[in-house]
Amino acid sequence: MSHFDTLITNIGQLLTMEGSGPAKGEQMKKLPVLENAAIGLKDGKIAFIGTNEEAKGFRADQVIDANGKLVTPGLVDPHTHLVFGGSREHELALKQQGVPYLEILKRGGGILSTVRATRAASEEELFEKAKFHLDRMLSYGVTTVEAKSGYGLNEETELKQLRVVQRLQQEHPIDLVSTFLGAHAIPPEHKDNPDEFLERMAALLHTIQKEELAEFVDIFCETGVFTVEQSRAFLQAAKSLGFAVKIHADEIEPLGGTELAVELGAVSGDHLVGASDVGIAQLAKSNTIAVLLPGTSFYLAKEKYARAREMIEAGASVALATDFNPGSSPTENLQLIMSLAALKLNMTPEEIWHAVTVNAAYAINRGEEAGRIAIGRKADIVIWDAPNYAYVPYHYGVNHVHMVLKEGKVVVK
Ligand code: NIG
Ligand code: FE
Repeated sequence: MSHFDTLITNIGQLLTMEGSGPAKGEQMKKLPVLENAAIGLKDGKIAFIGTNEEAKGFRADQVIDANGKLVTPGLVDPHTHLVFGGSREHELALKQQGVPYLEILKRGGGILSTVRATRAASEEELFEKAKFHLDRMLSYGVTTVEAKSGYGLNEETELKQLRVVQRLQQEHPIDLVSTFLGAHAIPPEHKDNPDEFLERMAALLHTIQKEELAEFVDIFCETGVFTVEQSRAFLQAAKSLGFAVKIHADEIEPLGGTELAVELGAVSGDHLVGASDVGIAQLAKSNTIAVLLPGTSFYLAKEKYARAREMIEAGASVALATDFNPGSSPTENLQLIMSLAALKLNMTPEEIWHAVTVNAAYAINRGEEAGRIAIGRKADIVIWDAPNYAYVPYHYGVNHVHMVLKEGKVVVK
């Protein structure tokens, strides 16, 4: 007779997200659902997936009765700016007065205001603050998170941010994936020589590589920040050292960042609000995942959102993320992003669940480890206070988590 560490029984709907590779286009529209299911966990891994009937013959040290609830893989948030000092509530008033995001940055605020606070903070302070936000993400059902640097814009502080992520990786139950975003803005000391700044950040890649402080390199390709040419050269340098790359592309103004993401074979192109028709067509034929961040359009009070429908119809793989950061998206709540995806991107519940599990995992090169419930995989599981999967994006703005298991251990209940 099979004996498990934990059995979860009476699952109303189980989303295993079974399949192979990321879900592209049409594949995002179908969601295999097991009803009246059960799963068995052993040594932190999934050891059984089947019907509740089958599970009746099994024994376990711990039985969790899901009582008809929805069970899914732990959510994956593939784009966050997790580590930063301070906060920017004062910018909300500026925004209400109509001052644009890029204008605030130009005046030395925005990202640069967080850079000042992050430079001033100790590593310990940044650690405690990031841990607080990470705990909150876990409470919302997120078990894997990508975290970017980019509020240092000098060697010392960028490394300080990356070390915080490295320590959190060891000490926090959430799995973290680290991205170096030293090219996030031009610091005041390089106002007149941005290329020199990029050279400094490129030189830093060697230390980051040696100390294994990041596996991705990202850049903010935007009007008034870095051009397509600068972004291409910088990311090519990163690739030649073996880093995987991502791009903040076509977020506010359409510059051709989507095309650049495809050209460079980026693992993901992120934002893509202003992606061109050509960019979308190229994306659909590529392996680059479109990471869409509707919370940012919402919070920047924009009319325009990424064209998720066209991307999916063209055949692209779409993922969703919070973009958690102190300026353009101060929220840890990926469930809220799921509701915004439904209302503002016109994504269906089936597409949304692909976008926060399997596709999100592929967007950070964790597709073979996270985002699916499959035999032998880590048991990262969420039990939801929801009768079915459509309920979560529908009932918006609150936390539907009933219980979170990370590698088989109950970490939230
Ligand atoms: O993804 N666009 C650049 N970076 C972030 C915002 C960072 C900030 O405002 O602090 C974003 O929107
Ligand atoms: Fe971002």
